[in-house]
Amino acid sequence: MYTYEELKGFVDHCSRCELCRTRNHSVMGKGNLHSPILFIAEAPGRNEDRDGVPFTGRSGELFDRLLREIEMKREEIYLTNIVKCNPPGNRDPHPNEQEACIPYLKYETLLLRPKIIVCLGRIAAQRIIRPDYRITREHGVFLERKNTWLTAVYHPSAVLRDETKLPQMQEDFRKIREKLEEVRGEVKVNIDSILTKSNHMVSW
Ligand code: URA
Ligand code: SF4
Repeated sequence: MYTYEELKGFVDHCSRCELCRTRNHSVMGKGNLHSPILFIAEAPGRNEDRDGVPFTGRSGELFDRLLREIEMKREEIYLTNIVKCNPPGNRDPHPNEQEACIPYLKYETLLLRPKIIVCLGRIAAQRIIRPDYRITREHGVFLERKNTWLTAVYHPSAVLRDETKLPQMQEDFRKIREKLEEVRGEVKVNIDSILTKSNHMVSW
C-alpha cells in the first residue's frame, strides 16, 4: 500500500490523461482520513485549479453551509472528485478522463474504508452507483453495497443554479446525518456486546 502522501505525490505529477496539459494544480481529495463518510464530486472547477483544494469556490460555500446545518464540518469528512484536474471551461469530464483517473479514487477509498459514500451530482452518481442513475428521481435514497451505504444528492452548483432544489438538498443532508448516527450506533452495539461478554467472563 502507498501512503496518502505518496498517493498525493502521484496525483500532483500525474499525466495519465490530457487534462494534465491545461491544469494549474491537480486537486487531490482532502479531509479526515478516519472519517466514516466519503463525498465524491465531479471535477475541480477554476477556483480549485488555482488553489489545489476541492470545493473552495461558491459551491464549496454552499457545501459547508449544508454540512453546518447538520452540525458537521469539513474536518470531519473526506471530500474528493472523480477526476483530479479541471476540465477546460468546466466541461463535464470525458469518459476516457474518468477512466484514467479512477484508480486514484479507488485508492483513496481503500485508504479511507468509508461506511457511507455520498455522490455529489449526476456524473459521480453515474460513475459510482449506476450508469443510468437518475439524480432527480433517486437522490437521497440509500442502497447498500459491500457493507457500504451509497447515496447521491444534487451537486451544490445545481442548487446554486436553481434555488428551488435547496429544501430537497437539506432534507437529503438530514438523511445523511441519520445514516451516520445509524452506522455509529451499529459500532456501539458491537462494542456493547463485547463488553457484555467480557463482563460475563469476569463473573466466572
Ligand atoms: N465542483 C466539483 O465537482 N468539485 C470541486 O472540487 C469543485 C467544484
Ligand atoms: Fe491524472 Fe486524473 Fe489529472 Fe488526468 S485528471 S492528469 S488522470 S490526475
